[in-house]
Amino acid sequence: MSRVVVLTGASSGIGRAAAREFAGRGDRLVLAARSPETLAQVRDECRRAGAEVRDVPTDVTEPGALDALAATAVAEFGRIDVWVHTAAVMVYGRFEEIPVEVFEQVVRTDLLAAAGAARVALRHFRSARRGTLILTGSVLGHVTAPYLSGYVTSKWGLHGLARVLRQESRDLPGVHVCLVTPGSVDTPVYQQAANYVGRIGRPPPPITTPERVARAVVGCADRPRREISVGRLNLLMRVGFTVLPGLYDRLVGPLMRLGGLTDRPVPPTEGVVFRPHPDGEAVRGGWLPDLPGLVRSIGGTAAAAGAAARRLRRQVAFRPADTGATTPTGPVRRQSRPPLH
Ligand SMILES: NC(=O)c1ccc[n+]([C@@H]2O[C@H](COP(=O)([O-])OP(=O)(O)OC[C@H]3O[C@@H](n4cnc5c(N)ncnc54)[C@H](OP(=O)(O)O)[C@@H]3O)[C@@H](O)[C@H]2O)c1
Repeated sequence: MSRVVVLTGASSGIGRAAAREFAGRGDRLVLAARSPETLAQVRDECRRAGAEVRDVPTDVTEPGALDALAATAVAEFGRIDVWVHTAAVMVYGRFEEIPVEVFEQVVRTDLLAAAGAARVALRHFRSARRGTLILTGSVLGHVTAPYLSGYVTSKWGLHGLARVLRQESRDLPGVHVCLVTPGSVDTPVYQQAANYVGRIGRPPPPITTPERVARAVVGCADRPRREISVGRLNLLMRVGFTVLPGLYDRLVGPLMRLGGLTDRPVPPTEGVVFRPHPDGEAVRGGWLPDLPGLVRSIGGTAAAAGAAARRLRRQVAFRPADTGATTPTGPVRRQSRPPLH
């Protein structure tokens, strides 16, 4: 039977990839984010995949917005089976240089709104005695990094909250609280971030794809687990952070400046912390090489080279045997140009 899935942060990155993944499974979706334009695009993508979808433009930090979202889901589809909360924003900067209102809005979005979503979802699940809440944490909910104080504060709070919620719902075997904790993911969150550090942020390597994280999210909905970590270095980072805190703290600053910030300058900006920027929203952030594109262009070049080689072979074979004419006719003339890629 198809599930009813509420998904916040559905217009970009991991949330958008998860919407596509759930849609491909035939689940019924209620999609939320602030930007109505992008949300409508995602709705159409999911409908093309055959899913029943409602898009509900929502600012998760607005009072009452999450209750209204849940009410829409119940009114449209009769129940909620899975609630996935991915909505988040980031700010780069030295803690004391980040404007207070920006820091607080990051915490409001990434922690307090996630708590609000959990409250709404769990009230619903408790009365239904079943349901799965999936919160999107981060490796930065287990370790810390400089210039990301608002985000790190929120993710540490969220991880603590998820643990408490799991403990409190032990009396309900049908209710699950799951945490998906990605490392670096190729999404637009980095270039959309507020920034007071002067250089645009980037995901430090190794970078994984939002589609991979989306599969982990859907995997949690299929078979709930306490936590799914997605990222090859997550465990190593946690071990280093816990076992060698002095060394970790000495290295993390230089590593962050090297791998976590680009050379591209950026003036102080609030990014999308208070308002969405629909043009910047997509599944991928462009931080990974476009492998399918690369394969297509290598394939195109190989096909063109093959066609040129065949043409040359025919020219060489044709000349002495037939007329000796310098202008090739027949089969050589009929060769079509290699396709442009
Ligand atoms: N990318 C990574 O490397 C990475 C790593 C670890 C964890 N994560 C986590 O994964 C989750 C998704 O991140 P992402 O990288 O996919 O980011 P993203 O591409 O920037 O997407 C963020 C989503 O949140 C929505 N959003 C932001 N503020 C909102 C608000 N006030 N109300 C409603 N929706 C809001 C955005 O849409 P609108 O702007 O239109 O509202 C967008 O749909 C986040 O929880 C993030 O912390 C990401």
